[in-house]
Amino acid sequence: MTAVKKKLVVLISGSGSNLQAFIDACANGDLNAQISCVIANKAEAFGLQRAADAGIKTAVVNHKDYDSREAFDTVLAQTIQAHKPDLVILAGFMRILTPAFVNAFAGKLMNIHPSLLPKYTGLNTHQRAIDAGDDFAGVTVHFVTPELDGGPPILQAKVAIDASDDAESLAQKVLQKEHIIYPLATKWFLDGQLTLQGNSVLKDKDLLSKNGLLYQE
Ligand code: GRF
Repeated sequence: MTAVKKKLVVLISGSGSNLQAFIDACANGDLNAQISCVIANKAEAFGLQRAADAGIKTAVVNHKDYDSREAFDTVLAQTIQAHKPDLVILAGFMRILTPAFVNAFAGKLMNIHPSLLPKYTGLNTHQRAIDAGDDFAGVTVHFVTPELDGGPPILQAKVAIDASDDAESLAQKVLQKEHIIYPLATKWFLDGQLTLQGNSVLKDKDLLSKNGLLYQE
């Protein structure tokens, strides 16, 4: 007998290549889950097309329709909660979320950030890594806490920075890793292996280091 599928809600603002990785992982059985809804804050987000093509329900909650972050987040939270998800996945969702929103989903809200956190929170991460002369760029899947990009890491992947790399080439290489580690961390979560405890992550009762685990091919 197969276990009941867990429910995911995915929030996007753009291309949705990470969303596509989740669509594929659900379709091929890597994840015993279904995406209940894809929610975007922009009607033109290409990821909405990916969702529609896969027969997944979509919703748009446009931040421009609301006077305040709080008002937007309230409607966003209601739209999510209507699906009673086991996990809420931020996949290129380019809005800063209020503490009230984050706390409402505490312990079941994940994000992917294209740097080796705690390095380079915020934007332009790949250019900043190149400018700093770093040997490696990378990506971090982390639980979301009220501090922007400050929630505890679960899993990281590294990518070597070559002399010929620019921000775009690096972004493409990092995205390939994103598409592997985000569904993997999600599988761990859905299997009950991950717990957010304060500002730390437990995996199978082991406290993870402040960088989380490092993905090894
Ligand atoms: C990714 O680089 C992700 O790390 C960041 O936003 C980008 C989203 O890309 N948070 P996509 O929309 O999944 O292609």
